[in-house]
Amino acid sequence: MSIPSDKALVPFVSVDNMMRLVNHVGIPEMLRGLTAYIEEDFRRWELFDKTPRVASHSEVGVIELMPTSDGEAYGFKYVNGHPKNTSEGLQTVTAFGLLADVYTGYPVLLTEMTILTALRTAATSAMAAKLLAPKGATTMAMIGNGAQSEFQCMAMQAILGIETVKLYDIDPKATSKCAANLAGSGLNVVTCTSPEAAIEGAQILTTCTADKQYATVLSDNMVGEGVHINAIGGDCPGKTELAAGILARSDVFVEFPPQTRIEGEIQQMEEDFAVTELWQVLTGDKQGRSSEKQITLFDSVGFAIEDFSALRFIRDTIKGTDFYFDLDMLADPDDPRDLFGMVGRAKETTSI
Ligand SMILES: NC(=O)c1ccc[n+]([C@@H]2O[C@H](COP(=O)([O-])OP(=O)(O)OC[C@H]3O[C@@H](n4cnc5c(N)ncnc54)[C@H](O)[C@@H]3O)[C@@H](O)[C@H]2O)c1
Repeated sequence: MSIPSDKALVPFVSVDNMMRLVNHVGIPEMLRGLTAYIEEDFRRWELFDKTPRVASHSEVGVIELMPTSDGEAYGFKYVNGHPKNTSEGLQTVTAFGLLADVYTGYPVLLTEMTILTALRTAATSAMAAKLLAPKGATTMAMIGNGAQSEFQCMAMQAILGIETVKLYDIDPKATSKCAANLAGSGLNVVTCTSPEAAIEGAQILTTCTADKQYATVLSDNMVGEGVHINAIGGDCPGKTELAAGILARSDVFVEFPPQTRIEGEIQQMEEDFAVTELWQVLTGDKQGRSSEKQITLFDSVGFAIEDFSALRFIRDTIKGTDFYFDLDMLADPDDPRDLFGMVGRAKETTSI
């Protein structure tokens, strides 16, 4: 076998190494670090290449590519969304991603992003809630207790200081799993048997369900004044969680409007339905929460810049550690124009 040169090697973070890294750093610290990186990129939003993600839909799910660049680095994520998967022993969402150097075009990081997506989605939710939730919020309702849910709860604890989470899922087994996983987190965990019970007394309502249809996880009469809604699960055409009446009563904050209008809760509304871009609240150009009675709604669909920030965070965090290994990923002939010769010469060293 021929020995790859240094130029051929790309750092690769496997699922195993991602779990080692997360356990080494600790989930709250990972969430704080990711939030800081995402905030930094939202503040320089205007310099990014932005496009709605490229989605390939089927009857049962969606496969998406999410690219962006800040002019120095380029990143993309491959991600799927298949709500039927859990009944077949598979995950609803899996992902991996890549970061590259714009100057050479060479990849500088390849990483698993299933775990990283759950962390970055939670960090983004907490970043938004920090700007929008009522001051002194202590309690969150967590509706949908699947793969993302514990990360969502822990991000609200780490970044907002949430003390109590009230869990509800149509499947009580998911709620028990989530409650068991959060034992020892320091959160006061309350399991509920109806969405109404989960919402009672909560200042933040997070919906994170998976259903490939227009669902009504929250109906209009369930939502009172003064709350912040963090809507995660409506993220595809024809896949929403909230009654349109809630949107009409809320101030809606979004990531990238051209993508959210296709995929988010606001797909139910008129094309010119008023929204505020979250990055403008971070930069201080637009107001976040302006009154105690206001309902704020983060219509989250997940945008490429959040994944770019997560890739940057991992690139910086693994430096000097053993939480990755090098993949022989890029062909590197001695003479850059002699790719053919490199293949031929490999015959002498490769056993076929
Ligand atoms: N906005 C983002 O950035 C982002 C990122 C990742 C995932 N997502 C979306 O978040 C959702 C959840 O992802 P996941 O990986 O946790 O999925 P999952 O399948 O692991 O969990 C979803 C849970 O929702 C429950 N559920 C379904 N309908 C419900 C209802 N009406 N009321 C209460 N519970 C209900 C299911 O029983 C399940 O436990 C998906 O729709 C996914 O596409 C969004």
